[in-house]
Amino acid sequence: MHDEPKFFPQRGTDFYADGRSVRPQVANTVARNQLHADTYFYTGFVNGKEGDGLPFPVTMKVLERGQERYNIYCTPCHSRVGNGRGMIVDRGYAHAGDYHTARLETAPLGHFFNVITNGYGAMPDYSAQIAPVDRWAIVAYIKALQLSQKATQADVPAGAQVQPLSSIAESQGLPANFAQQWTLPPTAVNGTPDDQPYVLPTTPPNAASGAGAPAASRPATVKTPAAAPAGKTAAQQ
Ligand code: HEC
Repeated sequence: MHDEPKFFPQRGTDFYADGRSVRPQVANTVARNQLHADTYFYTGFVNGKEGDGLPFPVTMKVLERGQERYNIYCTPCHSRVGNGRGMIVDRGYAHAGDYHTARLETAPLGHFFNVITNGYGAMPDYSAQIAPVDRWAIVAYIKALQLSQKATQADVPAGAQVQPLSSIAESQGLPANFAQQWTLPPTAVNGTPDDQPYVLPTTPPNAASGAGAPAASRPATVKTPAAAPAGKTAAQQ
């Protein structure tokens, strides 16, 4: 196999007239799994505008999948109820969007798909982590989250009861403060030291001028945070 005739990537060949071993794409062909004919499903856009509606029927299974994916990927910043006060935000990240504002309550479903696919302001995109079908499931679940915050007795079938979260928590045997806004323990690192939004540094900390400076500064940056918790633990024990 080592000696058999073969093409090496990016290396020339005299086999083809144009001298290239890497062949150009054949016109009007589409690679397997790359035909995105249903553009709404893949983009959330209709004629260049964010569309409204899900590209497939919403079932309980879709909502459950959306809830699971949402809780994994979005709660760190947006929180389980979608008010934008997740744990990462509590610790200094830019305030994440609150889904329960008038603008987002009336935003078309394609907008949420678009935000997950392409990111939005300080929010990174999740197109690599979440497949399109799961992005739509999350969108369906966000809609359910929005409705859940304003549900009235008229929204549920006869016989079902709309209850405040605190009553549900109580009936489940959870502490009374379960449904309240959580507060961090005093030991938690809360916000940024100067209470300003966190901005990514443009130059690495400890970057000194001179040859070999980045390499020399790297162990120092690693050592400082590692040493602090170790000392703390030792003191607490
Ligand atoms: C790392 C934190 C983070 C994660 C994780 C995150 N977001 Fe965000 N999100 C943000 C921030 C910050 C904003 C506000 C961005 C701005 O206004 O600059 C935002 C804004 C939004 C908005 C509002 C857009 C608008 O029109 O105002 C939506 C919708 C949204 N995110 C959906 C999601 C969904 C769905 C997920 C999970 C797939 C998710 N986000 C995960 C940080 C995050």
